[in-house]
Amino acid sequence: MRKTVWAAVAAIVILPITAATQAPGEYVGAETCTGCHEDVADSFEKTAHANALEVLVEAGSDGDAECLACHATGVEDSKYVDGAVTCEACHGPGGEHVATGEATTINNEIGEADCLKCHTADWSPDFDYDEYLAKGIHG
Ligand code: HEC
Ligand code: HEC
Ligand code: HEC
Ligand code: HEC
Repeated sequence: MRKTVWAAVAAIVILPITAATQAPGEYVGAETCTGCHEDVADSFEKTAHANALEVLVEAGSDGDAECLACHATGVEDSKYVDGAVTCEACHGPGGEHVATGEATTINNEIGEADCLKCHTADWSPDFDYDEYLAKGIHG
């Protein structure tokens, strides 16, 4: 009985701490990434991906979960971590990488299949992996 009470108290106290240190696999948002990868951030800002939510705003569809799925990052229903196609849309959730600071905890082997999740025949009929990669993802 007493144990159960303590477990409940511990849960309340521990929850916010885990949130702050990030559980593995959680989205942390691009601002966290660029704190350590500033050089990448500068060139990323010049790409179309940085602008992906703006085009939804212009289309009046920035509250549409279906559109947000490809025009934002860390999307759940119509909420998102980043309003743009940012780091974690390609590299995957970075919670574990940020917590450990180790290169092996983040996906750096990105290929055509990662792009095709969003660059579908419907939405990106002219997509060609080499051509699109050459337009620049980040420097
Ligand atoms: C606390 C600092 C820090 C933060 C925050 C951080 N990184 Fe890193 N990242 C590093 C370090 C250190 C390395 C290893 C660098 C090296 O080996 O040259 C690294 C390496 C990488 C690599 C290359 C991995 C490889 O296999 O060589 C990628 C990709 C990467 N980070 C992406 C991200 C993304 C995306 C985010 C945000 C989710 C992020 N990083 C946030 C410190 C950080
Ligand atoms: C499956 C992923 C996906 C979904 C879902 C999606 N889009 Fe897109 N959208 C893209 C991609 C990828 C591009 C870039 C295409 C290209 O340039 O080859 C794009 C481009 C656009 C553009 C053109 C941007 C420009 O620079 O001219 C607009 C506008 C747009 N989408 C609006 C929408 C709206 C509105 C919705 C919801 C009804 C939506 N998208 C849903 C992936 C998607
Ligand atoms: C559209 C997909 C995409 C987005 C968005 C993206 N990256 Fe990358 N990133 C790549 C690809 C592709 C590579 C090259 C990986 C390889 O060598 O195969 C890469 C490589 C890297 C590397 C390793 C650099 C090196 O020299 O190997 C780092 C660090 C990195 N990205 C960080 C970031 C950060 C930080 C952001 C957000 C500001 C970001 N990326 C956004 C696709 C992306
Ligand atoms: C999460 C969805 C998503 C992923 C993953 C993604 N993209 Fe995109 N991409 C978009 C959207 C949405 C746009 C349109 C943004 C805009 O027009 O502002 C776009 C636009 C682009 C553009 C600009 C097209 C033009 O004609 O100017 C290039 C280049 C591009 N993406 C390359 C890539 C490559 C290469 C990959 C894989 C390494 C990739 N993208 C992965 C969603 C995505």
